[in-house]
Amino acid sequence: MSLSVFVTRHLTPIAEEKLNSFCTPEYWPEDTPPPYEILLEKTRHADGLICLLTDAIDARLINQAENLKVISQVAVGVDNIDLQAAEARGIPVGHTPDLLTDATADLTFALILAAARRLGEAIDYARSGHWQTWGLTTLLGESVHGATLGIIGMGRIGQAVARRAQGFEMRILFTDLSAHPEREGEFGATQVTLETLLKESDIISLHVPLTPSTAGMIGADQLKSMKPHAVLVNAARGPVIDTDALVLALETGQIGYAALDVTDPEPLPPTHPLYKLPNALILPHIGSATRSTRDQMSLLAVDNLIAGLQGKPLPRAVARSTGR
Ligand code: DGY
Repeated sequence: MSLSVFVTRHLTPIAEEKLNSFCTPEYWPEDTPPPYEILLEKTRHADGLICLLTDAIDARLINQAENLKVISQVAVGVDNIDLQAAEARGIPVGHTPDLLTDATADLTFALILAAARRLGEAIDYARSGHWQTWGLTTLLGESVHGATLGIIGMGRIGQAVARRAQGFEMRILFTDLSAHPEREGEFGATQVTLETLLKESDIISLHVPLTPSTAGMIGADQLKSMKPHAVLVNAARGPVIDTDALVLALETGQIGYAALDVTDPEPLPPTHPLYKLPNALILPHIGSATRSTRDQMSLLAVDNLIAGLQGKPLPRAVARSTGR
């Protein structure tokens, strides 16, 4: 019996080679996601699905996919998938945690340094011919070494960021859903309330999954309680921050800088006000975008898919209760 597998984008070559030796999948050929109606059609009789975070795998899609045995996402975050609907149908959902932790933490640190030291503005300044002499007060930024870093969400990526922050001799504060005395010890960090973290941190970095309770968790009130020079970094999910409130906070100097690898909406339209602000740095969601990481993520997604099609436990299934 031949298996029908739909893959919503091309994978890396090494992963396609493995998948192609197992079955004859159909790959969506474009760089942009398949439109929802096409996704419905392609999954209606599919046995397996490999998808990306840009695909809406909602209850309607899951319930009409009569043969679907496994959903395999090439990402750690699965907020685009209706996990309850999948669970109700007994369809396992795979994802790709751990492999991207270091790449994402590296990029988070790149954002921290670039924002605190105003690299975007400095690059433009040099390129545009404004650099006429060495200036004592030119392009002054904030010190990263020795600053207070507030990590919101001390999971895998939050801890990897803390590890890097230790090298910069930073004071580390963190919040998390559960108490983590062991992480306090390991990173010389202090677990505090969100209010304390927002008030005391020079740099605030978000590492929570997108859930109903984290959506909009950084809104007008939270931005108001940050320091006026605070740098806010988001390499998690865009909707964790209220974008309109952030634009206002940056325009009015309530906070110093925002460095975002993720935005709401995504992609951020070219006319969006955030692009016009000198104190905002926007990247197009590249946290895990290193060659080796994307190879590993794609390979794990293929392994998850194959296990699901064979009726075996997935190497990395999404934990039902937490979506992580
Ligand atoms: C994820 O995996 O959830 C990232 O956002 C993309 O790597």
